[in-house]
Amino acid sequence: MQVVVAKTAGFCFGVKRAVDMVYEQVETGKTVHTYGPIVHNEEVVKDLEEKGVKVIGNRQDLLAMDRESIQPREGTVIIRAHGVPKEIYDLMEEKQLERIDATCPFVKHIHRIVQKRSEEGRQIIVIGNETHPEVEGIKGWSKTPVTVVETQEQAQNFSANEGQKLCIVAQTTFNYKKFQDLVEIFQKKGYDIIVANTICNATKERQEEALELAAKADVMIVIGGTHSSNTRKLYELCKSRCESTYYIQTLADLKLDLPNSVELVGITAGASTPNKIIEEVQNYVRINF
Ligand code: F3S
Repeated sequence: MQVVVAKTAGFCFGVKRAVDMVYEQVETGKTVHTYGPIVHNEEVVKDLEEKGVKVIGNRQDLLAMDRESIQPREGTVIIRAHGVPKEIYDLMEEKQLERIDATCPFVKHIHRIVQKRSEEGRQIIVIGNETHPEVEGIKGWSKTPVTVVETQEQAQNFSANEGQKLCIVAQTTFNYKKFQDLVEIFQKKGYDIIVANTICNATKERQEEALELAAKADVMIVIGGTHSSNTRKLYELCKSRCESTYYIQTLADLKLDLPNSVELVGITAGASTPNKIIEEVQNYVRINF
């Protein structure tokens, strides 16, 4: 039996960068806070918690934060990979908190587009999931009202004031094909639109490789946090090609019973899944079957 781990499984560039930044800060012995969980993976967050890293849940927590309570040992607040609204930066400045920005540079790029184009008076359309923290962050960089669109119906129902110019950006993990379809709906309405395709390739590459692997595999294992939308998407894609697809968070969730006829087990993982967990699962399958 062969076990193949997808090359693109696990941490993408932005997540690795953010997690490394937190561990670097922990090493310095400072009090470290992250604004929101640094990545969507309970295992990473748990490990960091054990090392003393505290999570500031939301704006209210930040407001309630007494500078003295986090600064005695030169505390630091680290902004998560998904980014945050501009208001949060301002609030941190106001409270004179030491800030380290671990926003993925690809997400930061979207913030800059949104800021610039909205300053020019364009209405911003974000193609993505309204409740995702990345989208909440993106919205918070616009000077004009933002509309979030996820479905064809929402795009069709959209209307702007006469002469209103638009700028469309995408959540980095949005599906490219769906993005194109939605943009087309806006274009047909005849608006003056600037379209910035801000979808990150890391997601697309991971999804394509997972699909390819799942098509060959008898069993697929997808590893990732329960709140990770990109892991859920990977699971759905793999399941569409390979009936025996398992979604697990850690090795402890894996209840495998492999018949002898299984020749290939494929493994992939979401963008926030640490290498350590992928390796544990891989070794377990190799040794036990
Ligand atoms: Fe950044 Fe792309 Fe990862 S936007 S956080 S490198 S999925």
